[in-house]
Amino acid sequence: MLDVHQLHDAFAARFGAPPQLVVRAPGRVNLIGEHTDYNEGFVLPIAIDRATFIAARARLDRTVRVYSVQFSADDAFSLDQIERNPHQPWSNYVRGVAKGILARDLPLAGADLLIDSEVPPGAGLSSSAALEVAVAYALQLLNRLDLLGEELALLAQGAEQSFVGMQCGIMDQFMAALGRAGHALLLDCRDLSYRPIPVSPQARVVVCDSGVRHSLVGSEYNERRAACEEAVRLLRARLPRIAALRDVAPAQLEANADLLPLVILRRARHVVTEIERTLAAAAALEHGDLPRFGALMDASHASLRDDYQVSTPELDTLVEIARSLPGCYGSRLTGGGFGGSTVSLVAEGSVERFAADLVAGYHKRLGREAHVLICTPSEGARLVATF
Ligand code: GLA
Repeated sequence: MLDVHQLHDAFAARFGAPPQLVVRAPGRVNLIGEHTDYNEGFVLPIAIDRATFIAARARLDRTVRVYSVQFSADDAFSLDQIERNPHQPWSNYVRGVAKGILARDLPLAGADLLIDSEVPPGAGLSSSAALEVAVAYALQLLNRLDLLGEELALLAQGAEQSFVGMQCGIMDQFMAALGRAGHALLLDCRDLSYRPIPVSPQARVVVCDSGVRHSLVGSEYNERRAACEEAVRLLRARLPRIAALRDVAPAQLEANADLLPLVILRRARHVVTEIERTLAAAAALEHGDLPRFGALMDASHASLRDDYQVSTPELDTLVEIARSLPGCYGSRLTGGGFGGSTVSLVAEGSVERFAADLVAGYHKRLGREAHVLICTPSEGARLVATF
């Protein structure tokens, strides 16, 4: 990944003039609250200290030129006709954001953008949200738009939903825009109110990338979301006032289980119990009760594996090994699932040893390479430099 000076120089070399500014927006790790955001429930993620950087300069015409250092690829499009580019999937995040700004009737000039990222793609760390929010923030600054962090997040989410076709919730984009250093955010995905909760310095957040990528992630994800909507539709026969699974308590779901086909019941059961676990975990973190927090992470994984069925044998193996190691409070898959990463909460003094033993254990059990990132809760999108 290029540093800020290298980004400046690479931009000038490619586009023939220096950038006006450099922005960054981070990836995220969700500690608990998985597949709850699109059910209007709660999530408890941190923004991580790995980000996507964009060097940017406004243009006088209506052309956007983009270069990705990471993919050694470029793209260009006109603001007057923004269509999907099937040959450069990464560029659709940029196109989608520009289209979203125009759809809001905001003034937008062309731009040159040079992008680099330290968020590994496909690892479940929301590299796409980091890119979308970084683009939205760069264009906001270049065009002097007056957008709040929440609006940036919604704009970025809209780009992903309508332009990329993933019916994602708001969590990833919200964290890329509004993450807070040293804190997790307990986010209410119904009204976007949130409470920052300090992450104890006695614990470290350890992400482990299983190295497995699932190409069906978009369709499987959209299918899970549709199952939740179907559950709400069927439950309304007896619970006419519910708007989302957020409104259903676990006991209420069980009392009305006969309304739902078994698969739909299991999907809904994950969501309603996960929302409860997330609130309990936020309270445990606030009270410094790390063992309780870890137990809730473990329960979250079991529910994602058995009821929501988004885990993989590799993620299950990583979680199992992690829990057997000294200093581990809890471990679970993080993000959408179907591959990607696990997150573990580990005692500060044990973290180096934990990371080494986890990678070694995974290799021994499955013959695969895992990659560990020890993450620090960081801030959301910000301006890094102006020139
Ligand atoms: C993906 C989506 C998020 C969220 C998670 C699962 O990361 O982008 O909105 O639904 O999956 O919790």
